[in-house]
Amino acid sequence: MASYNFSREPQEVKMISTKNREIKTKIPAPGTKEILEKLDKFESRSMHGQLPIIWDKAFDYNVFDHLGNKWIDFTSMIFVANIGHGNNHVISRVKDALNNPILGCYAYPNDIRANYLERLIKFAGPNFEKAFLLSAGTEATEAAFKLMKMNGQRIGKKKNVVIAASGSWHGRTLAAQMLSDNKTQKAWTNHEQKDIVHIPFPYPWVLKGKNSKDFLRESLQSLEVKGISLLDDISGVMLETFQGWGAIFYPHDYIKELRSICDKNEILMCFDEMQSGFGRTGKNFGYEHYGVRADLICCGKGMGGGFPISGVIGKAEVMDLPEIGNMSSTHSGNPVMCAAGLGVLDEIENKNLVKESERKGQILHCKLKEMEAQFPRLISGIYGEGLIASILFHIDEDRIGTVQKVSMVTEKCMQKGLIVVHTGRESIKIGPPLTIPDNALIEGIEIINESIQEVYND
Ligand SMILES: Cc1ncc(COP(=O)(O)O)c(C=O)c1O
Repeated sequence: MASYNFSREPQEVKMISTKNREIKTKIPAPGTKEILEKLDKFESRSMHGQLPIIWDKAFDYNVFDHLGNKWIDFTSMIFVANIGHGNNHVISRVKDALNNPILGCYAYPNDIRANYLERLIKFAGPNFEKAFLLSAGTEATEAAFKLMKMNGQRIGKKKNVVIAASGSWHGRTLAAQMLSDNKTQKAWTNHEQKDIVHIPFPYPWVLKGKNSKDFLRESLQSLEVKGISLLDDISGVMLETFQGWGAIFYPHDYIKELRSICDKNEILMCFDEMQSGFGRTGKNFGYEHYGVRADLICCGKGMGGGFPISGVIGKAEVMDLPEIGNMSSTHSGNPVMCAAGLGVLDEIENKNLVKESERKGQILHCKLKEMEAQFPRLISGIYGEGLIASILFHIDEDRIGTVQKVSMVTEKCMQKGLIVVHTGRESIKIGPPLTIPDNALIEGIEIINESIQEVYND
C-alpha cells in the first residue's frame, strides 16, 4: 500500500449532526494522536496507516469514537460486519455459549460445531458436502492450496502446480503470500515457489475489447510453452472471486471457459470468497454470479460477524484427502466462534440480507454511475456487484500524485462523518453493512461526491 500520512493533528472541520452521523469535535478528535503514538511504540508498524479514528464502539452501520463522533461505515470493518457491527443476535448466541462454558475444545467433538457445520454446508449450496474450520482467512487459503495439491497428487505424481491470477490477494502466510504474487510483499520469502504459477488478470483495459476466452487460452498456452502441462502438472486454480483492490469481477465467459478447461484436465477450481462471501455481492457467495460450479471455496471475514472464524468448503472426496490429524488446528471450530457463525447465518436468513444486498446494490451502483458521468475526467470506472463497489480514478502521468489525491478524498470523507476503504491505490472501495438503511447509503454517496469536488477544486 502506498503510504499516505493522514494528519494526526486535530483540524477544524464543519460540525455535522444528522440521523446517521455526528461530528462534534475537531478531526482527528483530541486524544487520537496520543493513542496512535502508544500503538507506534508498542505495535509493529505493519499494522498502521489506517484512518486516525479511535474506534470506541460500533453498532450496525455506525462507528463511534471515544468522544462520541459518529461515522457512517462504508467498510464493514473490511467486509466483516456484513450483518452490522455489534449485532445483538450474534452477541446473544455468543453469551449463551459462554454461559455453558467450553471456551475451546480442540478437535474434541461438540454439538455446536456439528450444528454449525451442518448449517454452513446448507448455506453454501448443494454442491458442497464438508468444511474445515479455521480462524484466519490466510489459513483457509493455505488449507485450500494443500487440498488442491493433494488432489492433484492423487491423480498423478507430478500434478502439483496451482495457477493463480496476478494482482490477486490471498493472505500473508507463506503459500497465501506466494499465491498473491505481490513482488514487494513476497520478497521476504526469498524463494521461487515452483508449484505456483500466475496468469494475467483480464482487466477490461488489458482486454481492450479482445475476447476474454482467447485471452485465457493464450495465458494457458504460455504455460504450456514453459513446459507446464494442464493435464499433467496443474492440480488447481485459485481465484479471488473479484480482484480485491478494485472489486473487479472476471468476464463471465472467461470463468465459464476456465471451468470447462478445469473439467477436461481434472483441475480443481477454488474461489477465495473472503470478501465476496456471506451476501456481500447479492448472492450467498460471489462466484455464483459466474453461473459455474466451484470445487472449493475459502471464506472468513463476514462469516463470524467480527469473531475470528474462517473455513474451506468442498466435496467430501477432496475434503477427506488428509488423513485423520493431518489437517487440524487447535482453534478449528472453536465453540464460541461457531456460536457466532450460527448467529450470522440466522441474521442473514431472517433479515433476508442476500436479497437486501442485491436491492441496495442497485441503488449504490446507479448512484455511482451518475457520479462517473458527473466526473468523466476523474473517474475511469465503477466496479463491483451488490454492496461491494469501487470507484477507479484515472491515473495521470503523476501516479503517486493520483494516489495521494484519492487518499485525500478518503480523509475528507472522514472529516465529514463517513469511513470508506483506503486502498492506497487509485481506487476508493465501498462495502457498507448489508443492514444499512437506504437513506444512510444515499447520504454516504453524497459525502463522497462532495469530498471529490472539494479535493479536486482546491
Ligand atoms: C481475498 C482475501 N483472501 C484472503 C485474505 C486473508 O484473510 P485474513 O486477513 O483473515 O488472514 C484476505 C484479507 O484481506 C482477502 O481479502
